[in-house]
Order: sequence, then structure tokens, then C-alpha cells
Amino acid sequence: MKLQIILLCLISSTVKSQSLSVYDLSCEFKKNPIGIAALQPRFSWKIKSQVHNLLQTGYQINVATDYKFSKNMIVWQSGKLPSNESVLVAYKGSALKSGTRYYWQVKVWDNNSKESKWSDPAFFEMGLLNSADWKAQWIEPVQDTTQHIASPFIRKEVSLNKKITSARAYITSHGLYQFYINGKKIGDGVLTPGWTSYNKRLQYQVYDVTNLLQQGKNALAAMLGDGWYRGPLGWVSAWGIYGKTLGLLAQIHIQYADGSEEMIGTDDSWKSTQDGPIILDGIYDGENYDARKEMPGWNQAGFDDSKWKPVHLASYDNRILIASQNVPMRKIQELKPIKIFKTPRGTLVADMGQNMVGWIRLKVKGESGRTVTVRHAEVLDKYGEFYTKNLRAASASLEYTLKGNGAEVYEPHFTFMGFRYVALDNYPGELTLDDITGIVVHSDMDVNGSFVCSDSLVNQLQHNIQWGQYGNFLDVPTDCPQRDERLGWTGDAQAFCRTAAFNMDVAPFFTKWLKDLSADQYEDGRVPFVIPDVLKNNSGTSAGWGDVSTIAPWTMYTVYGDTQILKNQYASMKKYVDYIHQKAGDSYLWKGGSVFGDWLYYKPKMENHTEPDGYTNPDMIATAFYAYSAKLVSRAAGVLNNKEDEKKYNDIFEKVKEAFNKNYVTEQGRVFSDSQTGYVLALMFELLPENMRSNATTYLVDDIKRRGNHLSTGFLGTPYLCHVLSENGQTSVAYDLLLQQTFPSWLYPVKMGATTIWERWDGEKTDSTFQDEGMNSFNHYAYGAIGDWMYRVVAGIEIGTPGYKHILIQPQPDKRLTYAKALYESVYGAISSGWKIKDGNLVLDVTIPGNTTATIRLPFTQIDKIKESGRDLSAAFKNVKQSGNDVEIEAGSGTYNFIYPASFVSK
Ligand code: BGC
Repeated sequence: MKLQIILLCLISSTVKSQSLSVYDLSCEFKKNPIGIAALQPRFSWKIKSQVHNLLQTGYQINVATDYKFSKNMIVWQSGKLPSNESVLVAYKGSALKSGTRYYWQVKVWDNNSKESKWSDPAFFEMGLLNSADWKAQWIEPVQDTTQHIASPFIRKEVSLNKKITSARAYITSHGLYQFYINGKKIGDGVLTPGWTSYNKRLQYQVYDVTNLLQQGKNALAAMLGDGWYRGPLGWVSAWGIYGKTLGLLAQIHIQYADGSEEMIGTDDSWKSTQDGPIILDGIYDGENYDARKEMPGWNQAGFDDSKWKPVHLASYDNRILIASQNVPMRKIQELKPIKIFKTPRGTLVADMGQNMVGWIRLKVKGESGRTVTVRHAEVLDKYGEFYTKNLRAASASLEYTLKGNGAEVYEPHFTFMGFRYVALDNYPGELTLDDITGIVVHSDMDVNGSFVCSDSLVNQLQHNIQWGQYGNFLDVPTDCPQRDERLGWTGDAQAFCRTAAFNMDVAPFFTKWLKDLSADQYEDGRVPFVIPDVLKNNSGTSAGWGDVSTIAPWTMYTVYGDTQILKNQYASMKKYVDYIHQKAGDSYLWKGGSVFGDWLYYKPKMENHTEPDGYTNPDMIATAFYAYSAKLVSRAAGVLNNKEDEKKYNDIFEKVKEAFNKNYVTEQGRVFSDSQTGYVLALMFELLPENMRSNATTYLVDDIKRRGNHLSTGFLGTPYLCHVLSENGQTSVAYDLLLQQTFPSWLYPVKMGATTIWERWDGEKTDSTFQDEGMNSFNHYAYGAIGDWMYRVVAGIEIGTPGYKHILIQPQPDKRLTYAKALYESVYGAISSGWKIKDGNLVLDVTIPGNTTATIRLPFTQIDKIKESGRDLSAAFKNVKQSGNDVEIEAGSGTYNFIYPASFVSK
């Protein structure tokens, strides 16, 4: 009997494992999101089965207000629909209601006539859809509005007299907030409500607080910090950019077991004090915390708040409130210092071993009233001293005054720092590794990609790129996380967004940030230098920076197959190109449009330096980007079925191209100013006539060779440099650049011990002195834009059609590496491509997810030389062809193992 049961189990589990199933259900790119605003949310799922060539032929979706999908609770039944769509399928049922949770499930059919089971239910919950749903009132603690002041604390007690079945809190603030119920902080998000163009779009968060509230007395409490709302931002250090008064808006919806409901909101019965322990807080400044001023029990019921003052009511336009679109910022991981030491001058320093962003948790024991100062730095100088000059005006320090009753543990509340080293002044007793923990904070994006190869320096480069992304994706894509900047610099985001999308799921991140871009774009179409636009009068638009308005939406569309982002951004994309069009007029040349040029191109400040620098004429750059942005608007119009605009902007592209060639290109294909970036932009943006591409490539390669296989590009040329080379038959030169270890190169900082990407090619010079302290960040992701070339060309994972519905696997191996492998979790599932050279053979392992197809290109071989999992190619695939030196295979989903003699690779 026992044996029979085991056998039965075995049989049923094999049947199951061979069967078709759906997994990874998401709604608006999120798993079970709470608080969404989309009226027709879009569902995505992935499919798998044991068989190859799996395609979906149909689906059925149910949406209901209960997870059992009872008949009377159903709000949408799609019915069985013949369709291969499994990504971003829009809800088409009856109108969804504010604050309501909906469950959904899906089943699919495949091309083998198999039917899956219904998926487990997933859910999504609507936010507050109308501004009228906000019944609570804005409250503002009594506060000094002229300068930094102590963080306000706010509280109220409520009695709930019935059994609670469900409760939600909807919260936002002017400034940053931490909200507590009965002494517990709600949610695991930090630096809430995040950063948007606050006066136009203010995010609120939704929390399930069912388990935090209790029958009887409850305390609702919050503390507020200046954050991006009020603190000084930008190197001009403007204070109170969005407002001078901090405030809170909170609304708690409670459902009771007896079916009744109650709403508790902020109103004038709440009280506040500014006499709490957070004496000062600021994004750049850090935090000053006096533990002697702690108010034990302030966020719990029963606390004596008789000395606290009533709050003021305030009125703001609630139509700007939006449900959080991005994933929350969270404490993602903890690091321990690798060592503690004293510098030659005697500063006590802990080395976190990694340039990280976030803060530290400090343990300390000492007498009451002693103040320990924690300072942060990215690097030590030539003499091993703590170096903070490159932080400019950001003091980035913590001051903690002890209360003096045993072991104390402290973490700051409303700030973050970019650092590898922490210096501790006035620390009592001996500092041990256990006393310091690094808390790494960033937007909690799913890590979607990995790249690894046989060169450990390149692997460290990939590590540095990822950490550059961690450290600069805190709700907004920033230039750097440490100095008095940390702003949403548009050019940097433009350069890096494709690479970012390989490493992590950035769909919600850019969806949100691009809406801020639209919101802050000037009437005349200019895109501010930074988004959110805090530079205001110090801002403008610059070629290569403003173009993030066309490049980022197009990139997100191609990576995620998301046409909605094109719809969202289309007006902004057009407005930007129309602005340039109006500036350029009939000349089709954008003169004076480039403020920053090819920012930070190779230009050594060394004496007796005779080598030419990498300068590129800024007007030429501006016209090149003009053409490219016009092309992208035309493409977007095509996707959105706007034939008229598709033609209009393509015509503009053609005219700009003509003007570009007349003005900047010689008959031999020499591109003004004969610089690497000049050739790169002309080739990448398809500005040259076909017959000139090869000459232009030769001039580019000559320049690289003349410089001893070195690049000379800045922010604008660098992202495309290796692509242009590998697309024009010069993959081996691209590898020369990737593997170059001397300055300027990607591996030079790695050799110098970098753990993130540097702002400058030579942030630290060979003699261990530093570049210009006014502009020398050691955590600036822009040059990390080489990352997408590593995924797309070295490992060979490329988009065939938007969203990777059709995939191209086309690695371009080089003999200097013995293996390379990339894994990328696409919206359809995991794609992988890994090659190795073994016993004179090239082995390529490929995975293609369900409901996609792929063209796999095997370089430098012939059909009859290749085996797939031991079989001849013709036996394994229907569609195989020789294409020049390569073999091209049309494949469906599944895993494949190719092997053939490696007589070919570049170099
Ligand atoms: C930022 C850059 C930015 C640049 C504009 C700098 O201060 O750190 O990354 O793109 O200004 O040139």
C-alpha cells in the first residue's frame, strides 16, 4: 500500500513536471502591488513546460474581489481568448474601485494543445483613485521656517472598540516621514515618500496595517525630516525648494468584523513637538541626534503628551497626489567593515571594503553627553588620510550624543551617504568590527541580470557597474550619491539606462521618473538639466542630456515591450524635438545646443602633454543628437500608429542627416572634429551614407591605435564606442578597449582598486593623487554604460523584437577570454547565453524562455561542423542557414548546447 502511494506520487509529480504551467504573475510590473493607480492594470505571466518550442496560443483571465473567485465577486472574465500575448495584457472588466483589493488568475493553452491549470491567485489593490477620497487634512507642526530645525514628532491616540478585520494606511508628507503604529514603524520602505517633482506629483504609500492596530487604545505617530522637500539641494544650496513647512497627510481605513468601516485621518486633534532627539537632518548634511532627548514611548499609547502643541491644519491641492509608481527604497543588505585602523595622523577609520550608499548602524557605550562624530569618505588620500574634499559642501556626517545607559544602537533616519570609509571621532573605548554595520539602501529593483567571464578584472568591472547602479538608483537616477549634488542628471541617465535595464528591473523606476520629466519639461520643450528640476534658473537643456526624453522611453519600450511608456511620454518626446527644430530652423543644424559637450572626454592635465585630447565639436554633437531624437520620435509614432508623425519626424531626420553631412563630413568620410566621439555618434545614429561607413570606421580605429589602444570619449561617446566597433567589423578593437588596463580605460580604475565606477577616467592618478576636487566622484555610473555591450555582444543577448518576444543570440567571442556567460530575466522568463573555449572547441549554452522565439547566430563556422546536444544541426532544427561566416538557426524555447571547432574567434 505504502509503495503504491509512493508510486502514485511519483507518477503524478512527473505528469505535473511535464505539464504546461504559468508562473511569476505580475501586475503593472509588480508582484501583488498594493496601491496602484492604473484604471486598466496590465497583467504579465511567464509560461513553462518540459517541451521545446513552447508557444502560448490562448489565455483566460479571471478577476474577482475574493480569492475564491466566487461567481458574484467576479469583475472580469476574459473568456478563452486566442492570443500569444502574455506580457502587459490590459484589464478590460468593469470599473475598478478605489481602495479595493482584486484577485486575479490566469490559465493558458499552448501550441501542443495543452491546457494549464489555473495559476495560484495573485492580487493587486487600487490606491485612492479620486482626490475626493482623501478625507484627512494636511497637518503641520508648529515650526521655524527660516532655517534647519529639529525634526518634528507628531502623535495621536485613538480607541478602536470592535474587532478589526482589515486596515490600510495611506500616507504622504512634505519632507520625509517615518510612521509608527503602536511603537512599530510601518512598512519596510525608507526615505518615504520618495522624490518626485513634489509640487506637481507627490507620491503616497499604502500599507496593510491590519496586524498593527488592535482593539482598544492605539497610538499613531510620525516623525518628519527635511529630505529633498525642504533641505538644501544642488551646489547652489537652495533651501526650501518645494516649501518651507513640513507636513503630514495620513488616512487609515479600518474594516470591522461586523461589516462596519471607520476612517481615521490627520486633523487638528493631532499634537506635535520639536523637542525630540533629531536635532538636525539633511540629505547632504547627515544627522545630528541627541539620545538624551529621546522620548521613550512617544509612539505608543499612554504617553504623556500634555506639553506637546496642537498642529496647524493646512490646505494643499490633493489632485497632485499619486500612488507610488516606483518600487520602494529599502535597506537591501548589510556589510561588515573589513578592517579598523588608525591613519598616520591618528584618525580612527573603519573600511567597509566597498564604496556603498546608505548609512551605518553604530553601537556605542559611554557616558551621557559625549558626542561621537561619524564622517564618511569614498577614498583615502595618497598618504592614507581620510579624504572628504570631493564631497564639496556636503558635510555627510553623523553626530550622536550618548544618553549613557549601557549599549546604545543608532541609525540615522532621514539622510544617506556615499562612502567606503567611516571616520569616528571621540568614540569611547575600543571600536570593534561588531560596532559598525553598513546598511545598503536603494530602490528595491529585482536583480535581473548577471555577467561573468574568464577575466577577473572585467568581472570586477561588472561588479562596479552594479554597485554604481545600487548607489545611484534611490528613487531618482542620480549622477552621484556623495557630494552636494545627488541630482537626477539627465545625461547620465541617458547614457546608462540600457545597461541599467540589464542589471535590474527598472521598468517601474523609469516609468515614474519619466513622468517627472514630462512634468518638469519647460513649456517651450526644453528638458531641464536635472529631473526633478531643482536647479530652476540655473538649468536649461543640453544635447545628449535633454535627449533622455526620447532615448529612455524608447529603451524601456524595446526592453519591456511596453507601449504604454511611449504613450505616456510621446507628447514630451515630440515637444523636445520640436524645440530643437524651432531652434535649428531651415538649417537643420542645432547650433549652441550643446552646453556640456562630450562631458569629461579624455583631456589630461599633465604637464608636457603633447597627445591630442578627445575634444569633439559641441555643435556637431548637438546636430547628431537632433537627428537621433527625431528618428526615435518617428519610430515611436510608428509603434503608436501615428502615420503622419512617423513620416514627419523621419523627414526631419533625413534633412538633419543631409545638413550633418554637408557641414561635418568630408567626401572621404572624415567626420568633424576627427575625434572618437565624432565617429561614434555619426556611425551609431546612422548619419553617414552607406559607402562612407567603412572609411569612418577606419579613421576611428586609426585614432584608437594611435593612442595605443586607448579611448578618448566622454559621457556621450563612451556608451556607443564598442557597439560601433563591433557593428562595423572591429570587434577585436572593441575588446582591445575593454581589456585595456592603463589610463584611460574601464579597467584602469579597477586596477587602482575601484569598487564602483568613477566619474573621471583618472579620478585617482597613477601617482595616487586625485583629480580636481571640485568634480571627482568615485561613484558615478555614466562610464558603466559599457555594461550593455558586455551583455549584448560579448555574451550575445540581444533584442529581436520589443520585450524579447523574439531574441537574438549572437555572441562575438574573443580569444583573450576563455568563457563568458550572461543571464537575463526577461519579461518572458530567463534568457541565457554562455560560451566557452574548451579543447579547441567553442561550446555555446543557450536558454530561450517559453512563448518566445530566437535566432541563434554561431560565429565563424559551417553547418556541418556543429553539433547540438550530440545531434547534427539539420536533425535538431528545421531552419538553419549559412550566413557569410556564421550559421543562423531559428529556434524556439528550450535549452541548447552547441559545440564546434573554434578556429575563428576575433584576435
Ligand atoms: C554631474 C554630471 C552631469 C554634469 C553636467 C555634473 O556636476 O555630476 O554627472 O552630467 O554635471 O555636465
